[in-house]
Amino acid sequence: MKILVTGGAGFIASHVVDAYIAAGHEVVVVDNLSTGSHNNLNPQAKFIEADITDKDTIQAIIRSERPEVINHHAAHIQVGYSVKNPQFDATHNIIGLLNIMEAAKEIPVKKVLFAATGGAMYGNKQTPFTEEMKAEPLSPYGISKRAGELYLNYYHELYQIPYISLRYSNVYGPRQNPHGESGVIAIFSEMIAEGKSPKINGDGTHTRDYVYVSDVARANLLALESDFVGELNIGTKTEISTNEVFRKVVTEMGVSIEEVHIEERPGEQVTSSLDYAKAQAILGWTPEVSFDEGVKKVVQWYQSRS
Ligand SMILES: NC(=O)c1ccc[n+]([C@@H]2O[C@H](COP(=O)([O-])OP(=O)(O)OC[C@H]3O[C@@H](n4cnc5c(N)ncnc54)[C@H](O)[C@@H]3O)[C@@H](O)[C@H]2O)c1
Repeated sequence: MKILVTGGAGFIASHVVDAYIAAGHEVVVVDNLSTGSHNNLNPQAKFIEADITDKDTIQAIIRSERPEVINHHAAHIQVGYSVKNPQFDATHNIIGLLNIMEAAKEIPVKKVLFAATGGAMYGNKQTPFTEEMKAEPLSPYGISKRAGELYLNYYHELYQIPYISLRYSNVYGPRQNPHGESGVIAIFSEMIAEGKSPKINGDGTHTRDYVYVSDVARANLLALESDFVGELNIGTKTEISTNEVFRKVVTEMGVSIEEVHIEERPGEQVTSSLDYAKAQAILGWTPEVSFDEGVKKVVQWYQSRS
C-alpha cells in the first residue's frame, strides 16, 4: 500500500513509518523538520521536506504522489504554547489538515488515519475516559484536535473518505524530543543522562497514562486494515504519578537524586487515563509494553546517546 505519513521525521510517526516499511508498505514522508529530525527518517521512505500550512506545495505533493492512505501526524503539539498563541496552533492543526483533505478528496484517498489526543480531549472528568464521554477540550491544542475529528467526519459524510482518529494518551519512547513542555519521561531521562537534576512541577501527584511508542505504532498498523470509522482511545487505562515516573527513571539510571518540587504549572489537568476497550474490540489492540519495560528501554536509549 502507498502511504503518505505527515510528521514522519518526528517522534511517534517515525516509529509508525518503521512499522509500515517493515510490513512491506511504500511510504512517503512529508515533514517541515520544525521539531522532527533527519536522524529519525527511515532510509527506505521517500522524504519530502514541506510544510502542511503551505497549501499549494502540500496539495501538489498529494496530487503527484497519489497515496492510498494518508497518515496525519504533523502538528503543533505544545499545549502551553497553544494557550499563548491559539492562532499558531490552529494554523498548523486545523488549516494544515484542511490543506491536506482538500487534495485528498480529489484523488480520492481510501483512508485517513489521524493522530488525535486522548489526554487533552475529555477535560476534567472521572477516569478512565471512554470515547462515549463528551469531548470537552480545555486548551486550544485539544480544541484543534477535536476540530480535526469533526472535519474528518465531514469529509467522510460528504466525500465518503473513511477515517480513524487515534486518541493517544501520553506517548513515550526513544526519539521523543526532551526539549518540549511534555514528555516528562524523555525530559527526566535526558537531564539525568547529562548529569543534571530534574525538578518536579507541583507536588507530583498528578497522574497520566503512559503508552509506549511501539504499541502506538502497532495501532497505526492495525488501523490500516480496519473498516471502522471514528475515534479510538489508545492508552493503557493505568494512571502513573509524576513522582512515580521520577523514581522509576532515577532507579533505572542507577543514580541518587533528591526529589525537588517547584511551582505547579497553572491549568494542569489532575488525572488522565484512557479506556482502550473499544480499540481492543475493533482493532484487536492492547498495550503490550509495561511501564517498567518501557522506561528501561527509554533510559537505555538516552544512556547510549550521552
Ligand atoms: N507525544 C504524545 O504524547 C502525543 C499524544 C497525543 C497525540 N500526539 C500527536 O501525535 C503527533 C506526533 O507527535 P510527536 O509527539 O511525535 O511530536 P513531534 O514534534 O516529534 O512530531 C511532529 C512532527 O511534525 C512535524 N511538523 C510539525 N508541524 C509541521 C508542519 N506545519 N508541516 C510539516 N511538518 C510539521 C515536525 O517537524 C515533527 O517531525 C502529533 O499530531 C501530536 O499531536 C502526541
